[in-house]
Amino acid sequence: MVISMEKKRNSFGGSIGFVLAAAGSAVGLGNLWRFPYLAAKDGGGLFLVVYIILVLTFGFTLLTTEIAIGRRTKQSPLTAYKAVNKKSGFLGYLAAIIPMMILPYYCVIGGWVTKYLVVYCTGAGTAAADTSYFTGFLSGITQPIVFLCIFLALCAVIVARGVDKGIERMSKFLMPVLLLLILVISVFSLTIKSEGADGVVRSGFDGLKVYLIPDLNSLTFSKLVITVVDAMGQMFYSLSVAMGIMIAYGSYVPDDANLVKSINQIELFDTVVAFLAGVMIIPSVFVFMGREGMEASGPGLMFVSLPQVFHSMGKAGTFVAILFFAMVLFAALTSAVSIMEAVVSSVIDKFGFSRIKAVIIETVIALGVGIVVCIGYNLMYFEFKLPNGTIAQMLDILDYISNYCLMPIVSIGTCILIGWIMKPDYVIDEVEKSGVKFSRRTLYIIMIRFVAPAMLMVLLLQALGLFSLK
Ligand code: ALA
Repeated sequence: MVISMEKKRNSFGGSIGFVLAAAGSAVGLGNLWRFPYLAAKDGGGLFLVVYIILVLTFGFTLLTTEIAIGRRTKQSPLTAYKAVNKKSGFLGYLAAIIPMMILPYYCVIGGWVTKYLVVYCTGAGTAAADTSYFTGFLSGITQPIVFLCIFLALCAVIVARGVDKGIERMSKFLMPVLLLLILVISVFSLTIKSEGADGVVRSGFDGLKVYLIPDLNSLTFSKLVITVVDAMGQMFYSLSVAMGIMIAYGSYVPDDANLVKSINQIELFDTVVAFLAGVMIIPSVFVFMGREGMEASGPGLMFVSLPQVFHSMGKAGTFVAILFFAMVLFAALTSAVSIMEAVVSSVIDKFGFSRIKAVIIETVIALGVGIVVCIGYNLMYFEFKLPNGTIAQMLDILDYISNYCLMPIVSIGTCILIGWIMKPDYVIDEVEKSGVKFSRRTLYIIMIRFVAPAMLMVLLLQALGLFSLK
């Protein structure tokens, strides 16, 4: 009898566990915070339509590719690319660096969400409605670090428990709760009616119309281009592609699982939640702040505008705020856990460390970088102009390098590797292994070989400030 010395690889208990974990990864701050403010900025309905088209074509291609690479190689991002082709090992290094860069600042924002939840739970929500509250919190040195530590520790404990007992179990519990909370808050948001500061009476349904009906009258070519570029960046971030996550999660999927069905479900879950996040946030911000207030909210939407909206709701506001921040916390946690898992699985596969040791190493690194991000808003405050023209602090710099530069580079590399070097059948065979038919096969081949790399190149050049369509 041959006794294998190889440790048994972690795996998801089944398709539902995998879909909920992957959807948990996809549904995060991107859906709840970034999507609504981009949708508000880019004229609601139009952004929504463009986004859905991109998810069904471009997002589906990258998601399928990464999950198939993971399941076929049974390796984490760091080692998977080399297993696909000996010459593409460098892509693995890039794919593993991305989650290492994202985790610290994602946990910093997770800490902010934790802080706001605590604030509302302890009845101090009125203070949070003050416009200077958020900047006051950021410029304090200790608090953001304390909340970072709490959020990071939660992630570390879940990841240390392993794929089935930690990540899968958490996702099976948190994801249905999260969906329920979003539905409850969305319905509530539609029932609000109030006279705004400008004296106009607006209802949640008026806000819903603003969100859903594309405003084609004021549409210009440059606005359309901005919308497409925004929707593409958002889709990329929201589906958790190009972060190594889907390769790691794919490597834990049992061989008999139906990938076609799972991928459809992940896309659907992520898009429905992003859509509902808009239903939940846009009408309520519109009711209390009007269209201008809504469009001007930007990234401060969650931590500055929404507390004002909750305040305007009176007594019910505190309750809604608690539900809201609890829901955002769950979403951020399931995503942060997946980002940490992408690094931890890489360290385990590459160096053969135990899971606990890998988690400790990654937690220490994330804590160190996270602290630098926190003090980037106070002790080490600086402003830096990025090549795309944005004025950035530490958090924005990490976001820029990972999201706007490294992620497109890894994805272009992945498209070339699968589309041209290995050929699309590498992925198609894996998808059809369990006996299912790959219904979007032709679309996949066209996307992976031509459309996706070309669009990614535009995104990258645009981010580097080397090309502008606007
Ligand atoms: N996909 C995750 C999010 O949307 C990272 O936040």
